[in-house]
Amino acid sequence: MIRACVIGWPISHSRSPLIHGYWLERYRIDGSYTRQPVEPSSLETFLAVLSEAGYAGCNVTIPHKEKAFDLVTAADETTERLRAVNTVFVRDGKRYGSNTDGEGFINSLQQSAPGHSLKNSRAVVLGAGGAAVAVVNAILEQGASEVVVANRTMEKAELLKQRFGSRVVPLDWSKAADQLSECSLLVNTTSLGMKGQPEITLDLSRLDPVAVVSDIVYVPLRTKLLVDAAERGNTVVEGLGMLLHQAVRGFSLWFGPTPQVTPELHTLIARDIDPDYSS
Ligand code: ATR
Repeated sequence: MIRACVIGWPISHSRSPLIHGYWLERYRIDGSYTRQPVEPSSLETFLAVLSEAGYAGCNVTIPHKEKAFDLVTAADETTERLRAVNTVFVRDGKRYGSNTDGEGFINSLQQSAPGHSLKNSRAVVLGAGGAAVAVVNAILEQGASEVVVANRTMEKAELLKQRFGSRVVPLDWSKAADQLSECSLLVNTTSLGMKGQPEITLDLSRLDPVAVVSDIVYVPLRTKLLVDAAERGNTVVEGLGMLLHQAVRGFSLWFGPTPQVTPELHTLIARDIDPDYSS
């Protein structure tokens, strides 16, 4: 039996066991994927005994992603740039770290907006927190010429410019609407619009009609930002796609097969989030 888990604090909300459990059944693998609550003071010990405890690896979520990066033996190039780990896997007794959030974002974008190229494009990213780091890096890796980062706290947007270079253009949150006419991708990486949080109030009237609008929030499945954008006729990318696609590489590293993000899996998780969901 191959074992993997997701660690975080708190962790009870995580839908990763449902996603990996679906694939384990579908690919008929003798494996398990569980939730493990790990408080910050226990992270180092938990990862140190990961292999001895019988795990092939784990997903890492809030608030451990940055600390976990310091606790792995080696990481790939993208992960080194992000300095945050969401996937740990064991090889020859050593712990390796990877970050699949960026590829989750890009693959979800490609699935929902096929053919939408980011090469030489201009994107507007709302937010400059942990999630923004992975999204901004992924957009830059796709060859975008400019990523405008609009954030309430300007200093955090400035830090992203220092980190990723002059293609990142920091902007005050209040000026975001002015930047929408020439952008081909608008992404919300903040927690605004999430169930229980305030909505984003952004005037979309200048948004390019062919721009794609994406949100990393997946509860609700379609945020007000996405509803408003879809009403204007823009292509929208829901946050659930990123959650599903970021899980693919971890499954493959621990259990072997590279799993598919199928409509059936999408519906299963969507119904868990919203019992009234119909595809
Ligand atoms: P995460 O790791 O999920 O990105 P985070 O690092 O705490 O979480 O970042 C949250 C992001 O949402 C930040 O960009 C934050 O803006 P600040 O940097 O100004 O704090 C943004 N955010 C949260 N609440 C917000 C609000 N009410 N208005 C505008 N931005 C908000």
